[in-house]
Amino acid sequence: EKGGFRSFMDKEIHDQPQAVADTLLGRTDASGRLVLDEVRIDEALLRAVDKIVVVACGTAAYAGHVAKYAIEHWCRIPVEVELAHEFRYRDPVVDERTLVVAVSQSGETMDTLMAVRHAREQGAQVLAIVNTHGSTIPRESDAVLYTHAGPEIAVASTKAFLAQITAAYLLGLYLAQLRGNMYADEVASILGELRAIPDKIQQVLDREGRVREIARWMADTQSVLFLGRHVGFPVAMEGALKLKELAYIHAEGFAAGELKHGPIALIEPGQPVFVVVPSPRGRHSLHSKVVSNIQEIRARGARTLVIAEEGDEAVRPYADEVFSVPQAPTLLAPLLAVVPLQIFACELATAKGLDVDQPRNLAKSVTVE
Ligand code: M6R
Repeated sequence: EKGGFRSFMDKEIHDQPQAVADTLLGRTDASGRLVLDEVRIDEALLRAVDKIVVVACGTAAYAGHVAKYAIEHWCRIPVEVELAHEFRYRDPVVDERTLVVAVSQSGETMDTLMAVRHAREQGAQVLAIVNTHGSTIPRESDAVLYTHAGPEIAVASTKAFLAQITAAYLLGLYLAQLRGNMYADEVASILGELRAIPDKIQQVLDREGRVREIARWMADTQSVLFLGRHVGFPVAMEGALKLKELAYIHAEGFAAGELKHGPIALIEPGQPVFVVVPSPRGRHSLHSKVVSNIQEIRARGARTLVIAEEGDEAVRPYADEVFSVPQAPTLLAPLLAVVPLQIFACELATAKGLDVDQPRNLAKSVTVE
């Protein structure tokens, strides 16, 4: 059932164009308007929502971080992202006007389930973004938006992560449409960009050879750092998590802007650092700031492994290696930028002779608190 791949994880990485396409499928009506029938929460309640809190763990929480940037930008609703196990015990301020979004591949994560229960006790509406039909979290939520990634077997989450981000975008666009934050043609145009993403993921996969080669060369590495900014920040965190859980290598993700507040002290000659570079076409000046970060760490001897948009020539002089991804709107770019990082972790762990589908000490779904 591995479809000719060495591992389920390899297969699931390659399933990602389909996972995103399937999650988008059938979610518009004949006029192109976004319809999320599964979201059974009363429209008047959704219009009145004044705060969104995403609760999740691990990779699903990083999907929530990406969602925060998109939903705040599109809907102008404040979005908090909280690890479910922290949310539950902190006496969070939630009420009837809070929409709690629980993100979970398995739908069985006990920490996330406890957060759902706690939120509902406080009167919040809970919407679950879940991959596994018939699981507990959607049963205990007010509504569910299913990701259509198909069964995910490998312990490390890959295609479910992309599907979670995609579903969160749909939720953001739906709320923006419902609340009048966006015109119908704006929503339609972003949906069009989203539909173009699966082919672009495929282009990233078609070029995976170089990432794999570098990963094999790095099999003896002791520590890898990951930097990103804006939506690239959760991508960096996810890249680090993948490397920890699969290759048992010390890895840390940082917000690039935080570098000078401490982490830059870690940079010494030969330290590998992945940097997720924002699009040079983005509205902010973030691209040049991240390019400056690359210069700063390179000057201190870091080995810079850069994920950048195709055609971004500004990064080349400071990059030891550039992994290009196709152009996409800034908010959607995580669906592309994370893919080389998944492949890197998977290949490096395989080169170390490790079982990427069943990393030590981990379970696919964590059903204890
Ligand atoms: O099933 P869930 O999405 O609720 O699981 C959440 C985390 O346990 C999960 O994402 C975990 O971090 C993975 N091992 C990441 O690859």
